[in-house]
Amino acid sequence: MMRLLYFFIVILLLFSCKTESKDTTDKDVNTHPELSKDSKIFLGNRLFSEKTCITCHAINRKKVGPSVVEIMTIYKEKNGNIVEFLRGKSDPIVDTTAAQVAIMQSNINGFLKNITDVELDAISTYMLHVDDLNTK
Ligand code: HEC
Repeated sequence: MMRLLYFFIVILLLFSCKTESKDTTDKDVNTHPELSKDSKIFLGNRLFSEKTCITCHAINRKKVGPSVVEIMTIYKEKNGNIVEFLRGKSDPIVDTTAAQVAIMQSNINGFLKNITDVELDAISTYMLHVDDLNTK
């Protein structure tokens, strides 16, 4: 918990330094693919709520979709690529039940269509590290 708090403070400091020289808008973040790992996790965490992933995916328990921990366990085991999946370029490997796949597929075809590469990368990094944030 302390670690998480510390992490947010560091990020806040980083952003507040930046705003002294110029405005830090979303657009600004999106045009900087060289974000650090921690900034990606932070941004990914935010996007996971903003893009409504959280309404169907809890961290540790099944909701409408599988939990983030379950998804990541399988993606790590099978060496899967979240970004490719969310771009519609690779097939589902977690829950392959037709009805479940259809639910997630409609997100990919719908609101995820216009998501930027940086945003997808951040979401994927966040999901990959959700375990660290949770247990330490
Ligand atoms: C309306 C509910 C819903 C929303 C919103 C949603 N998902 Fe899903 N998601 C599902 C369901 C159901 C599955 C199980 C089917 C499957 O595995 O493809 C799933 C599966 C997944 C998988 C595993 C795919 C695989 O290989 O099987 C990933 C990764 C994923 N979601 C990421 C996301 C992200 C990131 C967001 C937000 C941008 C999101 N989901 C939003 C319902 C949802």
